[in-house]
Parts: sequence; structure tokens; C-alpha cells
Amino acid sequence: MGAAIYPGSFDPITNGHVSIIRSGLVCFDRLVVAVLKNPKKKSLFTVEERVEMIREIFADEPKIEVDHFDGLLVDYCRAKNVRVILRGLRAVADFEYELQMANMNRHLNKDVETAFLMANDAYFYVSSNIVKEAATLGGDVSKLVPPSVASRLRAKLGR
Ligand code: PNS
Repeated sequence: MGAAIYPGSFDPITNGHVSIIRSGLVCFDRLVVAVLKNPKKKSLFTVEERVEMIREIFADEPKIEVDHFDGLLVDYCRAKNVRVILRGLRAVADFEYELQMANMNRHLNKDVETAFLMANDAYFYVSSNIVKEAATLGGDVSKLVPPSVASRLRAKLGR
């Protein structure tokens, strides 16, 4: 079924994101993983680093394109000529925010639909923020992010 855009901050990409992308490939012929470039939001990794990490992980996957965007997501969808936004859902806590975003995006562009996939239960509690916090405080996050991301986190945090 066509193409979808999987947008996010990906600061950094986690195994939860990777599992959503792999599930997304079951549903869509092509996925554009789109990293938000938001100068207002403080990030650990630059947008270039985030894109590079995702490209490394999916280097052998021709159905995945990795890109970055700024401005409105629906404008980016239009520019890429893609009508589906893919988002992952973890616990119920994600629901309200996702519902708000999906409705706002539909309000902004009625031609764009949002599709949700459930995160793998092994990564239900994993988020970029919690991974960053644990890693900053010296916690072992090597099972929660791809190996290349774990080593980049160590390098970034000077460990
Ligand atoms: O990984 P995140 O931080 O949950 O991803 C949020 C993201 C990037 C999908 C969202 O913030 C976004 O789409 N930002 C672009 C600006 C936009 O289109 N805003 C209006 C719709 S809510």
C-alpha cells in the first residue's frame, strides 16, 4: 500500500522507532523517515547526525528514504506527494497527543491521513528522552537503541 512518511524528532532513534519502521514496511511499499529540524527545540544530536544514524541503520533497505524537514508536516507531505503519516503508539499516554496532532494535520490538509502502528511490547516504555536521561546518568541503554546509536551516545556524553 503506497508510501508513508514517518516523522519525528529521533533525538536519537531508539529500538522502539526501529520496530515501528519494520512494521511500517509490512504495510507500506515505501517509507520516508523524516527528521524534524526544529531550531527552537534543544536537541542532543544535530539534525545531520540524526539523519546519518538512521541512514546507517537502514543502509540495506531500499524501501526507506531518510530526510529532514522543517515547517508544517502536511506541507512536507504535499511536497513529497505522500498522503499518509505513520505514527507509533505506545501506552495510553501517547493517545491524546497523537489524537490532537492527527486532527490538527487533518484540519490543515484534509487529503492527509494518519495511520498508527503499535510499538513492540519490548519497547513500550522506551522514548528518546528517557534513553538520553538514563545514558547521561551513566545507565546502560545498549539494549534499547541500535549499537551504532549506543556508541554515538557514549561519544557524545564522553563515556
Ligand atoms: O518524535 P516527536 O517529537 O513526537 O515528533 C513530533 C512531530 C515531528 C511529528 C511533530 O512535532 C510535527 O509534525 N512537527 C512539525 C510541525 C507541524 O506540522 N505542526 C502542526 C501539527 S501538530
